[in-house]
Amino acid sequence: MKFFLDTANVQEVNDLLDTGWVDGITTNPTLIAASGRRISEVIQELCALVDGPVSAEVTAVDYETMVKEGRYLAQIAPNVVVKVPLTFEGLKACYALTQEDIMVNVTLCFSSGQALLAAKSGATFVSPFVGRLDDVGHDGMGLIQEICEIYTQHPDIDTLVLAASIRHPLHVIQAAQRGADIATIPPKVLHQLLKHPLTDKGVETFSKDWQKTGQSIL
Ligand code: E4P
Repeated sequence: MKFFLDTANVQEVNDLLDTGWVDGITTNPTLIAASGRRISEVIQELCALVDGPVSAEVTAVDYETMVKEGRYLAQIAPNVVVKVPLTFEGLKACYALTQEDIMVNVTLCFSSGQALLAAKSGATFVSPFVGRLDDVGHDGMGLIQEICEIYTQHPDIDTLVLAASIRHPLHVIQAAQRGADIATIPPKVLHQLLKHPLTDKGVETFSKDWQKTGQSIL
């Protein structure tokens, strides 16, 4: 399973580069706004930091402008993935851009019917939003499972399931259990995934006991 970092903060990516955990990055207009920087600069820097896919989202809502924005974003670096919303216009833009060999991530997916249409439109990735579904009392993880089951039954579909809107470590584990190809994870959640009080306690005990021996390995 691949992990993408869900951030437009270059420093946060830099901090995790030496871990081997970062297979790609996703951004959205909200994350770019939070960075306080120009989208082209942020995407260029992120693409230079990681070899994997870096999603950059269009902001237009009409097909023609989405395609123009998509082409602009795609020329920033070879590993740019253009993100388009799961609307009629967005899916047409997805089809047009993938016909030009531009990778596309179809975002804001909230149903398996939508995920089927994203696949039909040639999407490289589809992003079901787990946390936002949970927020309104629906079963976000159930959607991941449903889409994975449907895609698995149809080998002609090569769209990858990218679990998005991940809010806590359990979301990551459940996305893995249900067969998501990728989870895009905020750096904070990745750190939460790492932590366990018994690991910290164990390290402390081993260190104390080792000091008592007076030995040193090196
Ligand atoms: C990533 O592709 C999505 O834009 C992101 O995961 C959305 O997360 P949020 O619902 O926490 O804003």
